[in-house]
Amino acid sequence: MLNFIYKNQTEILFGKGQMSEITSRLPENAKVLLLFGGGSIKKNGVYDQAMSALAGVDVIEFGGVEPNPTYETLMQAVASAKEHNVNFILAVGGGSVIDGAKFVAAAYNFAGEPWDILVKGAEFSNPLPIGAVLTLPATGSESNGNSVVTKKETSQKRAFSSPSVQPVFAVLDPEYTFSLPERQVSNGVVDAFVHVIEQYLTYPVNAPLQDRFAEGILQTLISEGPKALSEPQNYDVRANVMWSATMALNGLIGQGVPQDWSTHMIGHELTALYNLDHAQTLAIVLPALMHVQKEQKSIKIQQLGERVFGFNYSDEAEQIDKTIKAVQDFFEAMAVKTRLADYDLDEQAIDAVVNNLEKNELTTLGEHGDIDLAKVKQILALAL
Ligand code: NZQ
Ligand code: ZN
Repeated sequence: MLNFIYKNQTEILFGKGQMSEITSRLPENAKVLLLFGGGSIKKNGVYDQAMSALAGVDVIEFGGVEPNPTYETLMQAVASAKEHNVNFILAVGGGSVIDGAKFVAAAYNFAGEPWDILVKGAEFSNPLPIGAVLTLPATGSESNGNSVVTKKETSQKRAFSSPSVQPVFAVLDPEYTFSLPERQVSNGVVDAFVHVIEQYLTYPVNAPLQDRFAEGILQTLISEGPKALSEPQNYDVRANVMWSATMALNGLIGQGVPQDWSTHMIGHELTALYNLDHAQTLAIVLPALMHVQKEQKSIKIQQLGERVFGFNYSDEAEQIDKTIKAVQDFFEAMAVKTRLADYDLDEQAIDAVVNNLEKNELTTLGEHGDIDLAKVKQILALAL
């Protein structure tokens, strides 16, 4: 096992009715920026619950954070936060709103151009503290320090990560997910699945506990994910999907093991260029990437096949191919298509993604740094 230092600072407030706990977690004399998305929280009652929990607290609202939140919109939120001198951000929404809150928090006291936090890793200090109310289980953003922001002007989707912007608390009320459109339920399950895979499907380092954690989350997503589509009002199913998605990317399962985030890096470019949903890009890239990297990942792919899908083929190559197909079939069963052509994309997209990766200096991806631009081409060609 590799060395690690691990701390997760987010207090999880899990279950029905936990919104009532938030006020006691706010700073004294709180002036709260309530950050939200395109309005789903106003239709499903989450906004009303938040406002009644915040009764008596000074609240400034900023709505309109879009899916794949943009720098352009978030800078308006920064201006509003400054204008009103807020001292806390409450992000109510999915990963986009929570990621957006992290950027606003970091930019708030930053003297330079905040985009540099994303492209140059510029250091920032005194970010605003954040609380999260999660409405879409998928990204794990409610309990990690990652933030992904898109600059519309240049079609760049970039990430930064810092424990200092990790939410201090997160409300995870499964009832808030009852109103999710099917497409977002599907997206969330696929995103969480791929998060686990990217911390698991590398090479063995004798970390059996991390492996079992990862396999347990994958199995739970495989059994509960389809039920979230067929029984949308089932609280227990929603609760299990929600907790799985948080556990998939709150840092725990990735401690002490190699990781490979190349599916995400390639996928981010597809979103930046063609506005595909985040999870759609992952469903396209991962199966093809597994094929291209099957030698490097051989042992773990076979283990995934055996422990998660129950395969026991004596022929190694068959075990690997059947496992890759099972992953792809799972995405399709969750109604997320797995080919570029399904989204009306062709060879041109391959060159565009490769150019963007080169521009962003993402040319040595994978746990061995051996996924170069030629391999990315090969991966995307397989996914046509
Ligand atoms: O904007 P509103 O009106 O709220 O609608 C949203 C949005 O249209 C809707 N929605 C959310 N909760 C709902 C709901 N509709 C009805 N009922 C509810 N309860 O769902 C749509 C998508 O929301 P979004 O927040 O964009 O989705 P998601 O949570 O999948 O977040 C995606 C973003 O997170 C980034 C992605 O790149 C993408 O920008 N990621 C963040 C990560 C992290 N912080 O660690 C890791 C991920 O890999 C990912 O890259
Ligand atoms: Zn993701």
